[in-house]
Amino acid sequence: MRSPETTSWHCASWQAKPAQQQPVYDDPIALQRVVAELSRLPPIVVSWEVEALRERLAAAQRGQAFLLQGGDCAETFGDCESDTIVKKLKILLQMSLVLLHGLKKPIIRVGRMAGQYAKPRSVDTETRDGVTLPSFRGDLVNHPEFTAAARAADPDLLLRGYERAALTLNFARALVDGGFADLHHPEYWDLGFIKHAELKDAYQRIIQSIGDALDFFEGISGSAVHEATQVDFYASHEGLHLLYEQAQTRFIPRQNRWYNLSTHMPWIGMRTAKLEGAHVEYFRGIANPIGVKVGTAMDAAWLQGLVTTLNPQNQPGRLTLIHRFGAKDIATALPKAIEAVRETGQTVLWICDPMHGNTETSTGGLKTRRFENILKELDTAFRLHAQMGSYLGGVHIELTGDDVTECTGGARGLTDADLQRAYRSTVDPRLNHEQALELAMLIAERSQSRRYG
Ligand code: PEP
Ligand code: CO
Repeated sequence: MRSPETTSWHCASWQAKPAQQQPVYDDPIALQRVVAELSRLPPIVVSWEVEALRERLAAAQRGQAFLLQGGDCAETFGDCESDTIVKKLKILLQMSLVLLHGLKKPIIRVGRMAGQYAKPRSVDTETRDGVTLPSFRGDLVNHPEFTAAARAADPDLLLRGYERAALTLNFARALVDGGFADLHHPEYWDLGFIKHAELKDAYQRIIQSIGDALDFFEGISGSAVHEATQVDFYASHEGLHLLYEQAQTRFIPRQNRWYNLSTHMPWIGMRTAKLEGAHVEYFRGIANPIGVKVGTAMDAAWLQGLVTTLNPQNQPGRLTLIHRFGAKDIATALPKAIEAVRETGQTVLWICDPMHGNTETSTGGLKTRRFENILKELDTAFRLHAQMGSYLGGVHIELTGDDVTECTGGARGLTDADLQRAYRSTVDPRLNHEQALELAMLIAERSQSRRYG
């Protein structure tokens, strides 16, 4: 049954509303041709998987599971190569193992990948030496080089993005389904990179302990623990480019609902979450579990409007609020947000993005984030949710499986000066593999010591 609110909805109804952050294309006919082609191409995911994820998120909402959502700020088409995909999958699997061990709950793994190709920008243009060109909006839209040709929005990139997303997810899923993610064989995920001795030892102890637990249960039950050891993997990206999302949105008669089948779990970014805007209009009509980024600028009325508009039926698992207040503001902003949502009488899944409120400029002029601030925001989030009788059901992290130097701090104590060495992000700074694993360990340790209540 569809609610009365969504009966006037269709996958292009957002076009009647103001749409922020959309590129301007010079050739509308070429754009329409591409959108028509994308609408005919097969979906990247299917509605059964989307429904399965929603049910798992509903469990997280009840405090019975924990969501690990992570990946690059912006994927590039160049990232669509086996080594990069394997490394990203490995770090997510390692983190999830550590979290499983520490939190003693099933971990839902959702990559920020296979479609994270479009970026919101704070300004539409960029000026260098008196020349003004459109901003780079991600590989789905244009190219980063500073020339007029590179910065022109190219509709064909929508097709290239769809293909790369499909190739990436196909490979990730084949690895997972083929046994790569089996908890009996965490050695498959060894990145060979964890050089920091203490981190390595701590990780080995966790692997050993999970191995012992599996042996124990399989010993007494006489059969393999399949349920717990078979790992699912889901994809997510910011649903920013609405024509791209619309083209992959299909009405599924069997479910009697519309689904965005470009990914399992799209989210609305901070800059496009206006109640009257096109993104909220588009998202309210799709049946996927969806996320919304929540920042300090969102007051109670705005947040309540989002909750009731996006989930009028209060369906469990439907709405994930991804708060990203920053270590500095979370203590004042989060209690108000929890209270505001509580007043609606609705339940949501709360997760914390400790990255986007903690971005700063390093002494060398590079965008960075301090590990200590990331950890502090997470600590505060766990503590405040517990104090208020709420539940922090997941984390949303920008990370990479590579050995980059983009965020400072962590066990290795990276400084501003180290950032020059391997700074590769074209957008936001990501945790490198060691920092990401360390963060998972610290969350796990702190939960075990009941520091989070
Ligand atoms: C992002 O997730 O990369 C992003 C732009 O975040 P936000 O919308 O929270 O600013
Ligand atoms: Co980002």
